[in-house]
Amino acid sequence: MIFDVITLFPEMFAALKTEGVIARGVKKSLLEINTWQLRDFATNKHRNIDDSPYGGGAGMVMQVQPIRDCIGKIKQQNPKTKVIYLSPQGKKLTHKIALELSKFEAITLLCGRYEGVDERVIEFDIDMEISIGDYVISGGELGAMVLIDAVSRQLDGVLGNQDSLDDSFANGQLDYPHYTRPEIIDGQAVPAVLLSGHQANINDWRKDKAFEITQKKRPDLLNK
Ligand SMILES: C[S@@+](CC[C@H](N)C(=O)[O-])C[C@H]1O[C@@H](n2cnc3c(N)ncnc32)[C@H](O)[C@@H]1O
Repeated sequence: MIFDVITLFPEMFAALKTEGVIARGVKKSLLEINTWQLRDFATNKHRNIDDSPYGGGAGMVMQVQPIRDCIGKIKQQNPKTKVIYLSPQGKKLTHKIALELSKFEAITLLCGRYEGVDERVIEFDIDMEISIGDYVISGGELGAMVLIDAVSRQLDGVLGNQDSLDDSFANGQLDYPHYTRPEIIDGQAVPAVLLSGHQANINDWRKDKAFEITQKKRPDLLNK
């Protein structure tokens, strides 16, 4: 899968490409993360890509031309790319949406800054708006990284032998509790069944616990 990210801060994506599970996916060529510096598409000598808003008011607005030219260039390479604008006004990112997006061959992520992008970009150049939650952050980059991570985890081979099938939300429930060494700490012991070596009993216990935890922490999931 190919991610093309349009951003004013491409350096922010270095961490994703060098650290952890997603970086391993990149190394194994299961995914590709390309960044595009939006200023490279500016046509003025100061490389400005924003201007003041019509109607007045605070903040600057990202202009249509550089964004449109950048998307055009990406589409020359990946004509089928789905263009997503990270926006607090978008559909909220969920496990279900991450799974749906993982079926695409290529995704282009537009990261806004300032007051966001000229509305005509959203009307004419964007296939989908995605939000990472009901709050406003300073730029789309962190949202794009969250999306890339959540989507890439769904790609075959990215997690290696770590299975995402029991992860929270995958079955409409939360994950079961996990324990590791030592067996007893400050008098608190690991549940005996996990030491029993009886896999069927362990699986049953995990299933029950996942349900119990979901009921306690996120009962809304069980009503869906
Ligand atoms: C300061 S915000 C602009 C907020 C915009 N004026 C509004 O109130 O809807 C700058 C950029 O950050 C990104 N952003 C902010 N909050 C976000 C969220 N919850 N999810 C995804 N992207 C977000 C968007 O790309 C946005 O264009």
